[in-house]
Amino acid sequence: MSSINYSEKIPNNVNLSEDRTLQRALEHWQPNYLQWWQDMGPDGSQNFDVYLRTAISTTPDGWAQFGHVKMPDYRWGIFLAAQEEGRQVNFGEHKGEAAWQDVPGEHRANLRRIIVTQGDTEPASVEQQRHLGLTAPSQYDLRNLFQINVEEGRHLWAMVYLLHKYFGRDGREEAEAMLHRHSGSQDNPRILEAFNEETPDWLAFYMFTYFTDRDGKFQLCALAESGFDPLSRTCRFMLTEEAHHMFVGESGVSRTIQRTCEIMKQHGIEDPEQVRQQGVIDLQTIQRYLNFHFSVTIDLFGADQSSNAATFYSSGLKGRYEETKRTDDHQLKGDHYKILEVREGKLIEKEVPMLNALNEVLRDDYIKDSIAGINRWNKVLEKAGIAFRLQAPHKAFNRHIGSFAGMRVSPDGRIISEAEWQANVRHWLPSEEDRAYVASLMGRVVEPGKMANWIAPPAIGINRQPVDFDYVRFN
Ligand SMILES: [Fe+2]
Ligand SMILES: [Fe+2]
Repeated sequence: MSSINYSEKIPNNVNLSEDRTLQRALEHWQPNYLQWWQDMGPDGSQNFDVYLRTAISTTPDGWAQFGHVKMPDYRWGIFLAAQEEGRQVNFGEHKGEAAWQDVPGEHRANLRRIIVTQGDTEPASVEQQRHLGLTAPSQYDLRNLFQINVEEGRHLWAMVYLLHKYFGRDGREEAEAMLHRHSGSQDNPRILEAFNEETPDWLAFYMFTYFTDRDGKFQLCALAESGFDPLSRTCRFMLTEEAHHMFVGESGVSRTIQRTCEIMKQHGIEDPEQVRQQGVIDLQTIQRYLNFHFSVTIDLFGADQSSNAATFYSSGLKGRYEETKRTDDHQLKGDHYKILEVREGKLIEKEVPMLNALNEVLRDDYIKDSIAGINRWNKVLEKAGIAFRLQAPHKAFNRHIGSFAGMRVSPDGRIISEAEWQANVRHWLPSEEDRAYVASLMGRVVEPGKMANWIAPPAIGINRQPVDFDYVRFN
């Protein structure tokens, strides 16, 4: 079950050829997908040979296959983690029942909505990143961008498979609509706000893959707990792909910081203006990018109190992060959770029913995980002997969803006036000027092993290849 059949038009490990109707429907969707990739995928790079990994099985050692591939020829397909014998619904009102192999009728609409929302983010990020290949700081980075792009394409396949197989005509229509919505489009945008933002430069790309792909990790972890077994299995395999995306983000920011530190030390400078004169990104600008991506991403978890979240949990559709490792009753009735609310101009804690606060629970787990990586970035600063430290802004800062939407909160968590916000926002979020400066550094570096001036080389190459390996052949 774990090995993948590559002899078929659509590679898969789900015995697709045994279900002719489904196979035909997906083969009908496939050329539309490829057309979308041509139109909306990586700009000007369809003919490059890229050193990509392709899954050969869904076991942990299944990543062995690396080779140069033209992206439109990448073998996108349907790969589910192996079925677990005797798996059960592990939480909610159906806890203890056998996991569902089919969609339970009463949860059909909610499940479809969950799958469509997840699926929509996958092609969205490819669209957001489509121009970045033109300004890659190295071949190594260019290859990583393309690896992420093809895998996000495959994640779309993963969700489209579920829609086609389990949701009939509605599912097929939803699968088509995935190719028609576009990131940032006026008339037909992507579903979630963060996926309609631009990813204009490589610092934004690294921040996106660190913060926003990590949102993906937490959503997928919660869905991997689902009582609907095919969703669980598909998410479990997607998670193995997601790990690389977050690595690209974390190491990309880390290398940017490292290079800035080298220059600061070498010239004995700290003033951001002087740092910029050396053609690297000042730490203050890195902090502002961090503030932006952190705040936009935590909005993705939704409102802090949500009856939908309660329903998704109680009906066994979406669990918590690491649900099965937790030791409570996995029903949560009568349990409480502390959320923040505004009272008399101050943020104060308030206890609410846990079931309604599950978005906040997932957001808090996410924040903890995000901060761990920020601390690793701070180690780079510490090692370089630089006093500056990066930090996550307060979770009420710059929010557009939930009870802080529309409020002005400083990065250190004080409720402030509109005037104070306006006077300081350019120190807290990237200004036009910051973005223009970062954009001015973006120039394409194509020579193997060479790096743009603003970023340090990676510690090691991909798949034990040297850093100066020809990761991309431009043809
Ligand atoms: Fe993804
Ligand atoms: Fe991802």
